[in-house]
Amino acid sequence: MILVTGGAGFIGSNFILDWIAASGEAVVNLDKLTYAGNLENLASLKNDTRHLFVRGDINDRGLLANLLAEHKPRAIIHFAAESHVDRSISGPGEFIQTNINGTFSLLEVARVWWQGLGAAEKKVFRFLHVSTDEVYGSLGPNDPPFTETTAYAPNSPYSASKAASDHLVRAYHHTYGLPTLTTNCSNNYGAFQFPEKLIPLVILNALNGKPLPIYGNGLNVRDWLYVGDHCTAIREVLAGGRLGETYNIGGWNEKTNLDVVNTVCAMLDEMKPAADGRPYASLITYVKDRPGHDARYAIDAHKIERELGWKPQETFDTGIRKTVAWYLDNQGWVDDVVSGEYQNWVAKNYGGR
Ligand code: NAD
Ligand code: DAU
Repeated sequence: MILVTGGAGFIGSNFILDWIAASGEAVVNLDKLTYAGNLENLASLKNDTRHLFVRGDINDRGLLANLLAEHKPRAIIHFAAESHVDRSISGPGEFIQTNINGTFSLLEVARVWWQGLGAAEKKVFRFLHVSTDEVYGSLGPNDPPFTETTAYAPNSPYSASKAASDHLVRAYHHTYGLPTLTTNCSNNYGAFQFPEKLIPLVILNALNGKPLPIYGNGLNVRDWLYVGDHCTAIREVLAGGRLGETYNIGGWNEKTNLDVVNTVCAMLDEMKPAADGRPYASLITYVKDRPGHDARYAIDAHKIERELGWKPQETFDTGIRKTVAWYLDNQGWVDDVVSGEYQNWVAKNYGGR
C-alpha cells in the first residue's frame, strides 16, 4: 500500500480516487482536516477497504512512526500543505508550521524508518513530494518557461514555504540517500477544488449573481492543468522517475486571469444561462491587487514528456467544461463547503478590497 498525506484536499482526494481506480492498491490517507480537507470528496470510497482514513497532523511524529510501522507503505505521496497564496499573506504562520516543519517531520520519520528496512524494501521505497511552479518566482512576458534548472525565487510566504520544503527533500536525498522524487506543477482545476481558488470562486459567485473579483488588471498569466492530468503525471513519476530528480508538470496552457474568467463565464452562459438573461461576464469587477502578485508562470514540461512519456489529455476547453458541469451537478457538496468558515474568509479577503 501507499501512504498519502493531505488526501482529503483538492488534489489529494482526486489522486486517491484515481489511484484506486487505476491500480486497486490500498491507500492510508493521513489528513488533519483543516478548512481545506473534506471527507465528502472521498464519499464514493466510504465502504471500500482500500481506503483507510487517519485524522492527524504531519507534525505528529509519534503518529507518523506508528503508521509506517503498522502499514509498511511502499511509498509516501506528500500533498499535505497550506495551499492558498492569499491566506499565506494574511497569516503566514500555518504555512511555516505545515509546509516547512511538517515536511521536515515527515522526512525525519520516513528516513529513520527507511534506514531500518531490509535491502529489498529499502530499494523499492519512494518519497514523492508534491510541489508547485510558484517556487521559481515570476516570469516576464518574453521569458522562456520554467525548467527544472530555473533558480528558485519564491515571492509569497506560500511559495517560500514550499521552496523550503523542496530544499529539505533534496537534502534528504543528497545526504541520507532517501529515495525522493519532487514534482513542481502549475495551477490545477477540476472537481472538489475549494472555492477560495479562482476558478471555483468564479463559478459559484456567477451562479449567485455576485461580483467576479479580478485582482489588479487581470493580465497576470498562469499555466492551467486539469487535476486528472496532474494525478496521472504523479503516478508516472512514482513508477519511473529517477531518484533525487524533480519533474515539472504543466498543461502548455498559459492564460491571463481575464481569459480564464471569460471562458468560465461563456461556459456558464451556455450550460446554465442567468435568469435575467445577462451574460455572466457582466459581473466582472476589478479589485485591489494581491500584494506581490506574480506576473506570469509558465512550465516547460519537456522532461516528464521525454523521460516518462506523460502528456496532458485535456485541453483547457474540455477540462473547464467538465469542471463547470461538476459544480453544477454537486450543489450539496458546494452548500456544505460554503457554510461556516468559508464566509469568514470571504469577508476577510474581499471585504476591504
Ligand atoms: P488543499 O489546500 O486543497 O488541501 C490540502 C490538504 O492538506 C487538506 O486536506 C488539509 O486538511 C491537509 N493538511 C493541511 N495541513 C495539514 C497537516 N499539518 N497535516 C495533515 N494534513 C494537513 O491543497 P491542494 O490544492 O490539494 O494542494 C495539494 C498539494 O499540491 C499542496 O502541497 C500544494 O502545494 C500542491 N500544489 C497545488 C496546486 C494547485 O493548483 N492547487 C498546484 C501545484 C502544487
Ligand atoms: O501555480 C500553482 C499554484 O496555483 C499552487 O501552488 C497553489 O496552491 C494554488 O493555489 C495556485 O496559486 P494561485 O495563486 O495562482 O491560484 P489562485 O486560484 O488563488 O489565483 C489564480 C490567479 O487568479 C492569481 O493570479 C490570482 C488571481 N485571482 C485569484 C482570486 C482568488 C483573482 O484575480 N481573483 C481572485 O478572487
